[in-house]
Amino acid sequence: MKNAKIVLGVSASIAAYKAVELVRLLVKEGVEVRVVMSANAGQFVAPLTFEALSGHPVYHTQFDSQNSAEMEHIRIAENADLLVVAPATASMLGKMAHGLADDALSSLHLAFKGPVLIAPAMNEGMWGHAAVKENIAVLKSRGVEFVDPESGELACGVIGPGRLADIPVILNKIKSYFNQRDDLNGIRFLITAGPTHEAIDPVRYLSNPSSGKMGYAVAEQVKARGGEVVLISGPTYLKPPPGVDFKPCKSADEMNGLVQEYLENCDVLVMSAAVGDFAAENLEKEKIKKQGDEGLVLKLVATKDILLEVAKRNSGKLVVGFAAESQNLVESALEKLKIKNLDLIVANDISAPGIGFQSDSNQVTIIDREENMENLPLKPKREIADLLLDRILSRLKRP
Ligand SMILES: Cc1cc2nc3c(=O)[nH]c(=O)nc-3n(C[C@H](O)[C@H](O)[C@H](O)COP(=O)(O)O)c2cc1C
Repeated sequence: MKNAKIVLGVSASIAAYKAVELVRLLVKEGVEVRVVMSANAGQFVAPLTFEALSGHPVYHTQFDSQNSAEMEHIRIAENADLLVVAPATASMLGKMAHGLADDALSSLHLAFKGPVLIAPAMNEGMWGHAAVKENIAVLKSRGVEFVDPESGELACGVIGPGRLADIPVILNKIKSYFNQRDDLNGIRFLITAGPTHEAIDPVRYLSNPSSGKMGYAVAEQVKARGGEVVLISGPTYLKPPPGVDFKPCKSADEMNGLVQEYLENCDVLVMSAAVGDFAAENLEKEKIKKQGDEGLVLKLVATKDILLEVAKRNSGKLVVGFAAESQNLVESALEKLKIKNLDLIVANDISAPGIGFQSDSNQVTIIDREENMENLPLKPKREIADLLLDRILSRLKRP
């Protein structure tokens, strides 16, 4: 999206403050953002906030001498690649659907000839109103795209649909306009991510600090490049990327079951989950009580090795494994590559500070079946995901 020119239209919803974060993130991505506000939006967030974050004047009054003389709504419209209206009020949807142009944002909308993306936000009663539904249908019939609101607790106190979609979801949708690579179109990915929880008793479990960020980044990039994703995830705090078929699970056993179930219908398996190697031999039905100073001896048994199970099935799929090691990184990864019959392995050194588990960046070595090694520099996980997908694609294209 670097150097893209986006107009962000903000209307008078209680969610207007969330648009502030959207501007910040877009600017961080190198986007030139021009904010345009409806007549009433300034009741919620002052134009100055957007001016400071975007680094550009905010267009919010049609009839001041400078804006009017320079025909600001036409000039901004001519120079933009995309118009995003977030949040869009019920009133603004109505104006856009019916071609009204009585303030800065609705006038700019009419003057703008490019693609339009709308993220509505409103009370659930308004969202369900026939007039709003009809306006949305009209806009959709003109090719306008929507990021639908989510269900949840609304500012008015009720629970229902109407809450502005999460900013990362809107950002993702915006990115998809500029990342039209589509080179994974038709390729079906099965991706595992996150840690597993191996229960000891009803309230305790064994786990690891995997955040799931790497696997979710791969899933997000596959979607951005037109592929299909089934994402099998252990417990994480992350939201599944939009458009993936999400299958949550807890234990290694459940994850194995899901992988075996969905394996047949995929072309590529990416096993980035940090699957627990051990589980308690006996799961206690009741919470284990503390007995004074006495310790507790737990007998652990090995969990099923998912990749070995896949290798046994000789599925003919392209299989990518991950090796998170704290010592002998390359040797351990090479051994895993061979024993588990992998096409590619992504190795990362979890003992190095600032990379691996939890972090947004990673530094990995990609090793292929022919034992070619590629050391990638420290990069955001999303970029690593893209580079990994390039390698996967070139292997898929081999005769
Ligand atoms: C506190 C408050 C919050 C509001 N939040 C919303 C909202 O989230 N969505 C919406 O469609 N209207 C909301 N409204 C009503 C709009 O602000 C009102 O319809 C306004 O005229 C819309 O102006 P605009 O579309 O020109 O920005 C809210 C009103 C108030 C007083």
